[in-house]
Amino acid sequence: MVIEVVRIGQRLVRDDRVTTHVALVSRAFGAKRIFMTEVNPEIKESLEKINKTWGGNFVVEFIDKWKSIVKKKKDENFRVIHLTMYGESINDVQEKLRKEENLLVVVGAEKVPREIYELADYNVGVGSQPHSEISALAILLDRIQKGKQFEKAFPDAIRKIIPTKKGKNVQVNETRN
Ligand SMILES: C[S@@+](CC[C@H](N)C(=O)[O-])C[C@H]1O[C@@H](n2cnc3c(N)ncnc32)[C@H](O)[C@@H]1O
Repeated sequence: MVIEVVRIGQRLVRDDRVTTHVALVSRAFGAKRIFMTEVNPEIKESLEKINKTWGGNFVVEFIDKWKSIVKKKKDENFRVIHLTMYGESINDVQEKLRKEENLLVVVGAEKVPREIYELADYNVGVGSQPHSEISALAILLDRIQKGKQFEKAFPDAIRKIIPTKKGKNVQVNETRN
């Protein structure tokens, strides 16, 4: 399964930290790429540094218009999931989502344009209370992959954590430093 994410409607500098966290969750929870508007180019640099240290080749791609990327991905046979508290319950739809091959997950910031509700193949609510795009995304990705995302390797890392009961155990690959 290929999962990609698009972040729409970022409110200038105010949403920087949240957008960075949406990108971090996308990467850590098994998505391949995030599309976002070029509001803050530093987010791309941060994620490239994370890839270098912790491995993998997660991609941050800047876009001008969210609608063009949603339409393009639909043409490429991706199913579009829009995360919204107004959507169908994740509990009811998760089985269906697990059977899809390519998914584009749309997360909002402040006000989400009405059109996305129509363009989406699935409008999915992680509960019907307002919370956060970061938590909604993490839970969606976990429900779809049932925790398997944490077993995937992040190749070519400089640092690799060996899970341990107490303290920190980090393997360092000096040849990549
Ligand atoms: C701060 S909320 C904005 C909510 C806003 N009232 C709207 O236009 O939908 C930012 C984003 O978090 C996600 N989100 C928040 N609560 C959610 C929930 N219960 N289920 C799914 N997604 C949620 C949605 O993607 C939403 O666009």
